[in-house]
Amino acid sequence: MALQIEHDYPLLAHNTFGMDVRAACFVAYHSESELVAALRLLRAEGSPRLLNIGGGSNLLFCGDFPGAVLRSAIDSVEIQPRPAVHSRTVPEEETVCVRVGSGHNWDAFVARALEAGWYGAENLSGIPGDVGASAVQNIGAYGAEIKDLVVKVEAINAETCEKRIFTADECGYAYRDSIFKRPENKKYIITYVTYRLRTAFVPNLSYKALADRFADRPGSGLRPAFTASDIRREVVAMRGEKLPNPAVLGNAGSFFMNPVVPESVYAALAARYPGMPHYEAGPGRVKLSAAWLIDQAGWKGRSMGPAGVYEKQPLVLVNRGGATGGDILALASAIIADVSARFGVTLSMEVNQIM
Ligand code: EPU
Repeated sequence: MALQIEHDYPLLAHNTFGMDVRAACFVAYHSESELVAALRLLRAEGSPRLLNIGGGSNLLFCGDFPGAVLRSAIDSVEIQPRPAVHSRTVPEEETVCVRVGSGHNWDAFVARALEAGWYGAENLSGIPGDVGASAVQNIGAYGAEIKDLVVKVEAINAETCEKRIFTADECGYAYRDSIFKRPENKKYIITYVTYRLRTAFVPNLSYKALADRFADRPGSGLRPAFTASDIRREVVAMRGEKLPNPAVLGNAGSFFMNPVVPESVYAALAARYPGMPHYEAGPGRVKLSAAWLIDQAGWKGRSMGPAGVYEKQPLVLVNRGGATGGDILALASAIIADVSARFGVTLSMEVNQIM
């Protein structure tokens, strides 16, 4: 397919928040060599600002994008020889390494993995976005995080056009975080992610609300009375009960991160609010529930103009129709200020703002 640079390109179909904005240029690339060709062509056109996007499910455009939007259309799936870096927890013969193009839809990959008998991604069913973004964002849900599946990440340095391969350790994964979010690493455009999956199904029911849905099904550990597809079905159902469908109501999933605070901050709050939800987050640190804080502050279901707080999950901000990035940010700022005043906890945004 010939490489095509589009100009004055509409981004409405490329962001789940439903922002009707445009990019000065837009390029979809189908291979690493096409990406490099695009980067060289753009340099010849005067080196516009670059923005590499995936499914656009974690982006808030605050206006037209004056540079070039790059979109991966690399969507291959190949089984890889086992790498030299070994899994610490699973015997090698029970795993498979799969190299997936960054433009492959994440959830389509999860479905395909289950069909192939590759397990470990089923708890991450239904998450919007692409494989490349999964590795930037360290997507996580229902007791699983992508960092536990990633073996390596391949990227092209947009400044030098050179290829670099990052091991999972080099990616610096933490809760919704990786080195690819640092400004100095934005130059790395992810082309492939290699995941290690299991070839035997071991259920992960560490997330209580998910475990509750399997409470009446006997069997555990290596002999569960249910399949990975059952987990996928329940996860998709739980998501559907709480999270708005972006095709119906514009949103980008959780708008804020769950705040991680020192134990002393948690202890002081817990004394005032017994039963406040909290989760262990490493030595001396506690993760609080942003949804709970926002809910307690009375924001659930409220709106400011066309920007709203979703009725069933207040961590999600929604575009009720025709909202701009500025409308969403005004609502987010009001929530941050109010939560901070009431609880002394500062919420930070999970969604990438594109100014
Ligand atoms: N809660 C309320 N009021 C509500 C809803 C929730 O108080 O209206 C409290 C409840 O106590 C509940 C707690 O919030 O137990 C947690 O809610 P939930 O299980 O929905 O999880 P979350 O912490 O709000 C995180 C992720 C989601 C992920 C779920 C499930 C972040 C920022 N968000 O939400 O991820 O699906 O856990 O694992 O970590 C996303 O990143 O876009 C996303 C949707």
